[in-house]
Amino acid sequence: MNEIKIFSPATVANVSCGFDVLGFCLDSVGDEMIIRKTDKKGIYITKIKGFDLPFEPELNVAGVSALTMYKAAKPNCGFEIEIYKKIKPGSGIGSSAASAVGSVFGMNELLGKPFNKTELTAFAIKGEALASKCEHADNLAPAMFGGFTLVKSLSPLQILEIPSPDDLYATIIHPQIEIKTSEARAILPKNIPLSDAITQWANFGSLIHALHTSNFALIESSLHDAIVEPYRSQLIPYFIEVKQAALQAGALGAGISGSGPSIFTLSKGIETAINVEQAMRKVYSKTAINFDIHISKINKQGIKILS
Ligand code: HSE
Repeated sequence: MNEIKIFSPATVANVSCGFDVLGFCLDSVGDEMIIRKTDKKGIYITKIKGFDLPFEPELNVAGVSALTMYKAAKPNCGFEIEIYKKIKPGSGIGSSAASAVGSVFGMNELLGKPFNKTELTAFAIKGEALASKCEHADNLAPAMFGGFTLVKSLSPLQILEIPSPDDLYATIIHPQIEIKTSEARAILPKNIPLSDAITQWANFGSLIHALHTSNFALIESSLHDAIVEPYRSQLIPYFIEVKQAALQAGALGAGISGSGPSIFTLSKGIETAINVEQAMRKVYSKTAINFDIHISKINKQGIKILS
């Protein structure tokens, strides 16, 4: 096999109470990439469609993760990468993670899978860090493994796959404004009150238990963010109105997707997810801000081969 086409999915990180460690995978949107072996050694980004991104591998998220893996693998060939970008950079649904995971997943397949998914994610962390100026894997892990994932530690990288109920649906609204992850991180406090930390780890632990046991009432009572949302929600116009509308329409919870501006909700069943979609749409339709909105099942497969 000399060429592979892959689908690299969008993801939701943080999931309210799991800042920097929890995430889940979407199936409604994702990038496509073609990776090709070449006789000429090195990493070459030969095509980028969809958005204006750098072709120099050292300046491109997919390129940096590819270069990191390339140095470790020392293969007897090079690779060309074509990126068909569907996830808007700065949208808060793991655009950089999809690129970072895509290149290393594709190269690994073409080399006969010398690395496991955790090792591939470790290479991709270097690409993700180019975009967010900080190493974290809460978008990378669900893109690579699918479903919900918990990044237990970065060094050594340890990723836990968390089960989730089959009838859990996400509704995501993406207001067309850009928030840079690095800037959304810069506004966060360096220290937090112990009482907020206690609330957060209680909710986080109970959310993990609720996902394991398909306990929707517990999912609902756990989806709160005492630490990050109060700061970042100020960057997202109409966040409070959208959240209230989603909860009134029956969502189990609503919060900022990654570093925003996208807002995610989780619902039990497709009918509620559709009601939530309509309620969120109604709020933003009254504003001058353009938006996309979509409903997704939890994508339990993650990144996949198209051909
Ligand atoms: N956990 C990260 C953050 C996700 O919220 O900053 C965005 O890359």
